[in-house]
Amino acid sequence: MEITLTVNGQEHSRVVEPRLLLVHLLRDELRLTGTHWGCDTSNCGACTVWLDGVPVKSCTVLAVMADGREVRTVEGLETPFGLDPLQVSFIECHGLQCGFCTPGMLMTARWLLDHNPDPTDTEIREAISGQTCRCTGYENIVRSVRHAAAAEREQAS
Ligand code: FES
Ligand code: FES
Repeated sequence: MEITLTVNGQEHSRVVEPRLLLVHLLRDELRLTGTHWGCDTSNCGACTVWLDGVPVKSCTVLAVMADGREVRTVEGLETPFGLDPLQVSFIECHGLQCGFCTPGMLMTARWLLDHNPDPTDTEIREAISGQTCRCTGYENIVRSVRHAAAAEREQAS
């Protein structure tokens, strides 16, 4: 089937098999390998991207379901002005260890802060509850999200 989707603001057309998963389209066809594939059970969340502005696990979405829609991946977080404040905070607060879960964490956390600029620790933990960090660095991940939220609030004031 021929599909056309917009990824990080750029339109792509591809002929794909109906069974192809979005995560594989992104990684193998479009070479956007920032989106990780970490399990066969839809549990790890490493593959999280935005589909029409909503975080989804791209291993649970067929590529054909993204036809005509907008996808945002971790590569789309950086702007011409630099890294997203969340990316900066993950670096400054040691929010990543091996980094495997980080793309999914960033995409989920970005959505959270866009909808709740001052989340509590509980709200942050709830938001990332679909993401598994095998390095178990949750404490620093929560701190990183909190740090980014504070930085963004300060910038906005
Ligand atoms: S690859 Fe693990 S949830 Fe998608
Ligand atoms: S930093 Fe290694 S899986 Fe989270």
